[in-house]
Amino acid sequence: MRMRRKKHLTERLNSVSDYIIVADKKFTNVKEALEYKRLIDFSKVFNNDNKVCLEIGCGKGRFICETAKKFSNLNFLAVELLENIIVTASEKAKKENLSNVRFLNTGVEYLLRYIPEGSIDKIFLNFSPPYPAKSYENRRFTNDRNIASYKKMLNNCGEIYQKTDDKEFFLYSKEKLSDGGFTVLDISDCYLKNEYINVKTEYEEKFLNNNIKINALVAKKN
Ligand SMILES: C[S@@+](CC[C@H](N)C(=O)[O-])C[C@H]1O[C@@H](n2cnc3c(N)ncnc32)[C@H](O)[C@@H]1O
Repeated sequence: MRMRRKKHLTERLNSVSDYIIVADKKFTNVKEALEYKRLIDFSKVFNNDNKVCLEIGCGKGRFICETAKKFSNLNFLAVELLENIIVTASEKAKKENLSNVRFLNTGVEYLLRYIPEGSIDKIFLNFSPPYPAKSYENRRFTNDRNIASYKKMLNNCGEIYQKTDDKEFFLYSKEKLSDGGFTVLDISDCYLKNEYINVKTEYEEKFLNNNIKINALVAKKN
């Protein structure tokens, strides 16, 4: 079912346009989009050369805004497919006057069009949709194609952090990441002690309130 467009969405998007690196929408075909790159110059966007971290599927932005406040020496780019949702996240960042956060309104499969190779230090995958492996594997954030693109975007010390409530998706991701050239560590039992991922996302809070176990991993690029 299509989500209904939020009221006053255009006006709201315009009022946070300094936070959203708008992705042009003319491509429907991933192959074509990746041929015509529109690479982001991070030092221009953030006005410094600090390391850049990426969250993919940021939702309403609590994780990225709180984490950016903790690490003012890092820059954060949050990716979200839906305008209805990215507007709320961007309003949060603007309200807090965060200078080290920006948003990219596109799908995970288009990222190499915008993100230069070797430019990212950490990638956060927080409660990505666990599409069924059989029928919708091509949409999973940790399928072979997306993992290959993360490997390109990350620098040599790059890491991916994943949190999910879905055990099957977690085991699938572990396997795909190992096969895709990462050393994977299961940190489910201690992830709340990890300074990079212990900020709770909107979804995570709901799961924890319902005593649902969270699975977490860190994957280091080999
Ligand atoms: C389950 S929500 C989790 C949101 C947030 N990370 C959290 O933990 O509260 C998944 C998010 O991924 C976004 N999403 C879904 N498919 C996407 C895609 N192909 N590219 C980027 N974001 C996507 C959805 O719009 C949604 O906001």
